Amino acid sequence: MKILSIFGTRPEAIKMAPVIAELNKHRDKLTSVVCVTAQHREMLDQVLTLFAIQPHYDLGIMQPNQSLAQVTARALTKLDEVLEKENPDWILVQGDTTTVMTAALAAFYRRIRVGHVEAGLRSFDKFQPFPEEINRKIATSLSDLHFAPTAVSRQNLLREGIADQQIVVTGNTVIDALLQVAEKPYDWLNSPLAAIPRDKRILLVTAHRRENFGAPFVNICAALRTLAAGYPDIHIVYPVHLNPNVKSVVQSSLGDIQNITLLEPLEYLPLVQLMKQSYLVITDSGGIQEEAPGLGKPVLVLREVTERPEGIAAGTVKLVGTDPGKIAYEASLLLENQFEYEKMSQAVNPYGDGRASERIVSCLMT
Ligand code: UD1
Ligand code: UDP
Repeated sequence: MKILSIFGTRPEAIKMAPVIAELNKHRDKLTSVVCVTAQHREMLDQVLTLFAIQPHYDLGIMQPNQSLAQVTARALTKLDEVLEKENPDWILVQGDTTTVMTAALAAFYRRIRVGHVEAGLRSFDKFQPFPEEINRKIATSLSDLHFAPTAVSRQNLLREGIADQQIVVTGNTVIDALLQVAEKPYDWLNSPLAAIPRDKRILLVTAHRRENFGAPFVNICAALRTLAAGYPDIHIVYPVHLNPNVKSVVQSSLGDIQNITLLEPLEYLPLVQLMKQSYLVITDSGGIQEEAPGLGKPVLVLREVTERPEGIAAGTVKLVGTDPGKIAYEASLLLENQFEYEKMSQAVNPYGDGRASERIVSCLMT
């Protein structure tokens, strides 16, 4: 059996790395081929290096400030060539990016079976997140096996008419990745984090969603400025996503504040170390919403809706949207009220036990 894993962006690479490692353990029974679209370049390469993945195909499709249609068109044609050459029994895709949607479509056109990792997440809002809600629904329609991370995502798939026997609840592979790197020794003082003061309360911030471009991003930055000015004893650390729509606003708005450090995107290992060291996480990221609760870090989510209700139900994640007053109020509450902070900083992990990849690969082999 030949399995072709296809991914293109940072989060897909982090979440597929443990699956690829697991596939490699079964070389006697299967052939594992890896293709990256390179929808991301630097942010993908950081992960490939950390997890020592050498792709068989690198389609190099990223262009500066690319449009959704451009990524889709380039990925679809180039992926078709790889599928024609390799003719795998299965492709594996992960999540809800444009790479996932196009890879599933290209495979369907060639009647190749699709396994979808992290299947069944839904916000039930077409434009939030944009375009991911529709990307993952398209991927669901095209997939033959759905690896749902939680019981909630399984239910979403059942409600859409997916047959029970095509769904396997596996946990999220992000927890496999997190557990692999969280305990690694780390030399903070000789790292990109060296200048971050560990004697202050660290607020880790990331944001990159397309629906937050423009006014919402300006509002997020305003809230961060208010917090930095109101609490000299905190230090905000923001590794800035390379999307130019994000970088330009963040740098002009937050570039010159003494207790805010803007960084280039961090490699996964330092990012996890920084999260472990943080007091609070403020983010619109999907992956970070899943990782931070496992490390006992409260998360304020800069979105109006989420497809990850499990963290909210567990009490460690709160949706705060992008209103600057609301963001600053909720963060202040956690900075000032120990009871509120402790309520949200219980280490819980609704997203898996670190064995999701094992379950995925064993299901493919049976
Ligand atoms: C993409 C995904 C999003 C995912 C996010 C993870 C789509 C439509 N969006 O958003 O679902 O949450 O990745 O981070 O699939 N860039 C670089 N270097 C990089 C990466 C990006 O310069 O390594 C810049 C380029 O100018 C590129 C732009 O960012 O054109 C946008 O990249 P793109 O992959 O289209 O969208 P993201 O906003 O990164
Ligand atoms: N991440 C990273 N370096 C950073 C920011 C994030 O390694 O500077 C990791 C993070 O821990 C998580 C993943 O990247 O595993 C999330 O990626 P992103 O927020 O770009 O995408 P999303 O999860 O929202 O699709």
